[in-house]
Amino acid sequence: MMPSRPYVSVSLAHGEDVRRRLLDLGLIDIRYKIVASDDALYIPLTDEVTEELLDAKLTAEFSFGERVFTPAAEGPKTLTEALQDEIPPELLDLVPRAYDLVGKIAVLEIPEALQKYSKVIGRAFHSIHENFETVLSKQGAISGQTRVREYVLLWGEDTTKTVHTEYGCRLAVDLSKAYFSPRLLEEHNRVASLVQEGEAVLDMFCGVGPFAIHIARRVRAKVLAIDINPHAIELLRESLSLNRLVGIVEPVVADASQYVAAMEGSVDRVIMNHPSGAQAFVKDACGVLRPGGVLHYYDFVGGEDPEGEARGNVARLVEEAGRACKDITLVRRVRDSAPYEYQVVADAVIE
Ligand SMILES: C[S@@+](CC[C@H](N)C(=O)[O-])C[C@H]1O[C@@H](n2cnc3c(N)ncnc32)[C@H](O)[C@@H]1O
Repeated sequence: MMPSRPYVSVSLAHGEDVRRRLLDLGLIDIRYKIVASDDALYIPLTDEVTEELLDAKLTAEFSFGERVFTPAAEGPKTLTEALQDEIPPELLDLVPRAYDLVGKIAVLEIPEALQKYSKVIGRAFHSIHENFETVLSKQGAISGQTRVREYVLLWGEDTTKTVHTEYGCRLAVDLSKAYFSPRLLEEHNRVASLVQEGEAVLDMFCGVGPFAIHIARRVRAKVLAIDINPHAIELLRESLSLNRLVGIVEPVVADASQYVAAMEGSVDRVIMNHPSGAQAFVKDACGVLRPGGVLHYYDFVGGEDPEGEARGNVARLVEEAGRACKDITLVRRVRDSAPYEYQVVADAVIE
């Protein structure tokens, strides 16, 4: 008899995002095949998963139950298994367990000690994840004003350009030309879900425009999306034609500080997702936010109390800008950014 497993089912529109999220959390039972019906994906889960856990981890609507799944084909299930005979046993522990999946591209981080096996690792990765057309490895850290890094091809088509889908939003991405992280999907969706019909939103550091696209797909708001990197804005323009939008997005290549200083009128909400640099721009944001408007402030913070530090930073910076935080409605860790350091967001209502 075929084995019965707990499963989560989600609409096909959210299927890929949910699958990636559960895979990152290690909650998918990869010994079984995912089932796709006409309108839903059924994902087999490990025994520890409960409906409460899914409620806490997923934002998409889902149903939870138990059903029969077909075992996945025999063969290696993990990259480490696939490399058993390819690299020395003492190095197997260093094989990357996590990777980023961006559209048709998989991105690995190969430790120094495994560099000479990187092409072998790329081929092995593809042998167990056949639907990716390109496997890249990160080269160096994200740096500079435009927050990009270099990549080296490990396997497949030599490209850094793809279309990534998150929460049904199609985003044109070119990893070597403009910043993009597939780990921010929950944050893009969270902020977009707060935007009301008719709002004027300013995204000061829009990158390839994920916040703008999420918002304009959901509500009739107007988003002014600024980035200093012309490649980022070119990619956002491409995404505008890939999505059915109800809102309006105005992409602008500019230095956010200079552009905002010359702006007339006010906005209801400012998004400042440039955690390594946002501090220097809070004054500009405060100059255009209407009383009662919301600032989404992002920071890299570590220490004993990262949330407390981000909360303190935004309150101080807003005060230095001659305004005050009426309320800080939320402070949360968005993701790990380095060992003992987090990207934290604070939502502040400005008086
Ligand atoms: C962390 S990335 C943006 C991420 C984007 N909000 C997202 O969620 O994918 C920060 C962006 O700020 C842009 N940037 C840096 N300095 C800037 C400035 N002075 N004015 C406008 N954009 C700037 C960079 O080009 C980069 O795309």
